[in-house]
Amino acid sequence: MSVLSGHTRVAGIAGWPVTYSRSPRLHGFWLRRHGIDGAYIPLPIRPGEFATAMHGLLAAGFAGANVTIPHKLAAFDICDSVDETAHRAGAVNTLVFRDGRIGGSNTDGYGFLANLRAHGVDPAAGPALLLGAGGSARAVAAALLDAGASVTIANRTRGRAEALARDLTGLRVVEWDARVTALADHALVVNTTPLGMVGHEPLDLDLSHAPASLVVADNVYVPLETPLLTAARFRGLRCVEGLGMLLHQGVPGFHAWFGVEPRVDEELRQFVVADLLAR
Ligand SMILES: NC(=O)c1ccc[n+]([C@@H]2O[C@H](COP(=O)([O-])OP(=O)(O)OC[C@H]3O[C@@H](n4cnc5c(N)ncnc54)[C@H](OP(=O)(O)O)[C@@H]3O)[C@@H](O)[C@H]2O)c1
Repeated sequence: MSVLSGHTRVAGIAGWPVTYSRSPRLHGFWLRRHGIDGAYIPLPIRPGEFATAMHGLLAAGFAGANVTIPHKLAAFDICDSVDETAHRAGAVNTLVFRDGRIGGSNTDGYGFLANLRAHGVDPAAGPALLLGAGGSARAVAAALLDAGASVTIANRTRGRAEALARDLTGLRVVEWDARVTALADHALVVNTTPLGMVGHEPLDLDLSHAPASLVVADNVYVPLETPLLTAARFRGLRCVEGLGMLLHQGVPGFHAWFGVEPRVDEELRQFVVADLLAR
């Protein structure tokens, strides 16, 4: 059990809406596991009120916050300093309040790489093909490039992939319609689109000619087992599910706010899975 005292450290997740977020459950698990005098709460903050709310939390002695849709860009503007991860990702998802100042970072790339490694996959082992060019693609592409992988991107709207390639040196762009043939030249394929998520169509990706060594990662985690992962397992390909990315991306923030580096393990995964299945 976590205990609240006059010294309680408080953090939370700022979003609108925020009710869907699993982060309070994730951080609550770690707080209880480590018996920390701390709390992590949902912070429903309307668009337009983000800066006021964050400065209020800073003044109220909060340790910091995670930031989700639609505030990730607004979070950039309220920071006194942002680190390289936030610059490379073009968005802030973690705020740390220290000595009256706000520091911003982006932990999505860290979470993606940590999840790959937890599945025994070396991110630099071979070229990666990213499907999608949105916010999460940018963070993942930057992290893979920084880890030493060569990265190709295919996006429905080619111009968006090209804009990403202008920002991230070394990124190669191929046509969305060339994604299946491109698999042959890649060691890893990552779905960074919402395709396959509950309420969306499945991702159309024929794996029948994919190399047997291909690793298939899906950042979608609702459902846990997406149609893409089912198809990949059917072909005997190695799979990396998206939930691990979510769990790992929480580690740096928790460490900064509560002073303990938490562990991502099967007990935590089962705890969060139970919540996903209950909703
Ligand atoms: N596991 C995790 O921790 C984690 C973290 C972040 C995100 N995610 C998941 O990743 C997914 C994407 O998030 P995001 O923030 O990157 O979204 P985003 O910024 O809105 O980008 C979505 C991307 O998907 C593409 N797309 C959307 N619908 C498509 C369709 N019908 N056909 C082809 N491409 C389509 C878009 O292409 P256009 O440019 O052509 O519109 C865009 O490139 C979500 O499902 C989210 O839950 C997971």
